[in-house]
Amino acid sequence: MKVLITGGAGFIGSHVVRLFVTKYPEYQIFNLDNLTYAGNLANLSDIEERENYTFLKGDIVDPAYLEGIFEEHKFDSVIHLAAESHVDRSIADPLAFVYTNVIGTVNLLNTARKHWKTNLQDHLFYHVSTDEVYGSLGEEGLFTEETAYDPRSPYSASKASSDHFVRAYYHTYGLPVKLSNCSNNYGPNHFPEKLIPLAIYNIQNERPVPVYGKGENVRDWLYVLDHARAIDDIFHKGNIGETYNIGGVNEWRNIDLIELLCDQMDEKLGRPTGESRKLITFVKDRAGHDLRYAIDSSKLMNELGWAPSVTFEQGLSKTVDWYLENTEWLNNVTSGNYKAYYEQQYTHR
Ligand code: NAD
Ligand code: TYD
Repeated sequence: MKVLITGGAGFIGSHVVRLFVTKYPEYQIFNLDNLTYAGNLANLSDIEERENYTFLKGDIVDPAYLEGIFEEHKFDSVIHLAAESHVDRSIADPLAFVYTNVIGTVNLLNTARKHWKTNLQDHLFYHVSTDEVYGSLGEEGLFTEETAYDPRSPYSASKASSDHFVRAYYHTYGLPVKLSNCSNNYGPNHFPEKLIPLAIYNIQNERPVPVYGKGENVRDWLYVLDHARAIDDIFHKGNIGETYNIGGVNEWRNIDLIELLCDQMDEKLGRPTGESRKLITFVKDRAGHDLRYAIDSSKLMNELGWAPSVTFEQGLSKTVDWYLENTEWLNNVTSGNYKAYYEQQYTHR
């Protein structure tokens, strides 16, 4: 089977690529990524020489490029993760999110449909999305697969639009699709502009840790390898045309999470207890900041037998250890030097 994974050089995509390349040596895995600021091939340096792995540098916004690679490689399935993914960037530049998340997704759908039209039923388009499409919860309740869409940031609006297009291609053209909507991920390879890796970096370097507003916003955190395992389960065992919500059953107020992180890092760095909490700095709130996300994953758990493999304390501790052990990765990312990796590994081959 030839599987095209888009966005495989990014945070979640790199874990999905590694899982599929190592668990399914009989599959040919193609990683399509245009290496934006969030794409980093060093995330995959341990598997890049594998025979069943191919990197393709290209932009999903370019339909002629997609046409060429579908023609050349004859993919059987697509797992689509490529996206602009940061809410704060979407507030600064919404149109970039429309290009990649909406137009890029429609380009992929069109190309897949065209190339698979003689035997559509033998193919699969799996779209990876976010729980943020459901909007914001109050104190109570959980997002289910039936919750009405109510996106509130430019990021979530663009992902909601892409989800609608994927479902439209299923209903209108019979394209076999699956979707999943996941809560906030954390773990290795996370770009340090998102809350957890940014806080780890700042605590390590004794810089202020910015907490938006009063830190009362709640997120449901999932270890990224558990998301990759869920994607594997849904890809292989999920029903065509259906959506699966993925969450960690793990709600944390931002301020409580940051305090836990400070305490774990004090211990690991040999600092007096309470030292890193002094770095917490309350800053201006995000515009339109969603109060609470929380996921009901019972469909995925009951029908496909998936469950998170680590507690939050374990996953966070593993994550901190990874960042403390991978200072070169972090320094390269924060200095912008990680782009040189692509130049060395691929451009001169
Ligand atoms: P990321 O920003 O770390 O990675 C995105 C990847 O897509 C990067 O490697 C980037 O280079 C690539 N990319 C961006 N634009 C592209 C384009 N036009 N053509 C080709 N490649 C392009 O994102 P992530 O956090 O790994 O998220 C991956 C997917 O999972 C996204 O679709 C996101 O909406 C979804 N998701 C993320 C989370 C989360 O907590 N991070 C939660 C739920 C769902
Ligand atoms: P983020 O990691 O950007 O993910 P998302 O916005 O997709 O949930 O932010 C997680 C939460 O942390 C969110 O409520 C915003 C908040 N936050 C801060 O308080 N400070 C920060 O510096 C960042 C990046 C986020």
